[in-house]
Amino acid sequence: MDFHDDEGGANRPSYEPWSEARAGEIIAELRSLDGATLPILHALQESFGYVPEDAVPLIAAALNLSRAEVHGVVTFYHDFRREPAGRHVLKICSAEACQAMGCQDLAARAERALGIAMGETSRDGQVTLEPVYCLGLCAVAPSAMIDGRMVGRLDETRLDALVAEVRR
Ligand code: FES
Repeated sequence: MDFHDDEGGANRPSYEPWSEARAGEIIAELRSLDGATLPILHALQESFGYVPEDAVPLIAAALNLSRAEVHGVVTFYHDFRREPAGRHVLKICSAEACQAMGCQDLAARAERALGIAMGETSRDGQVTLEPVYCLGLCAVAPSAMIDGRMVGRLDETRLDALVAEVRR
């Protein structure tokens, strides 16, 4: 995964286009690890930005698992994105410390402002809104991350600025 500066100076990841051959290489590299499913899924997401449905049978065959077992892992973990992300990714922390500081109201405000639910990408591909489970910024909760940039002490004003940023 490479990072480059966009106009706003934020670091946005750029991903390789999905390729079965490339996925096969990644899987072959990691298949002998103990509990290889998670490392493989993370590596695929790091390369492609998401875990395409087409990767499931490849992983199943390499690890001698059923497709349902692999699919179960992909859907169990919030970390795995199953569709390509939008041009911007806004993550709002939904873990305990942030919950105690009102992150749910902020998440609902972001959903209303962007017209999408948590976990969705806007139809124009401009933004993906996702929950994340602790960014390690609990001391300055509630927290968010926009295109890889951490934001602490999120409040309505800061959130509105982030929404304006992802709409640009
Ligand atoms: S709980 Fe949100 S940053 Fe830790």
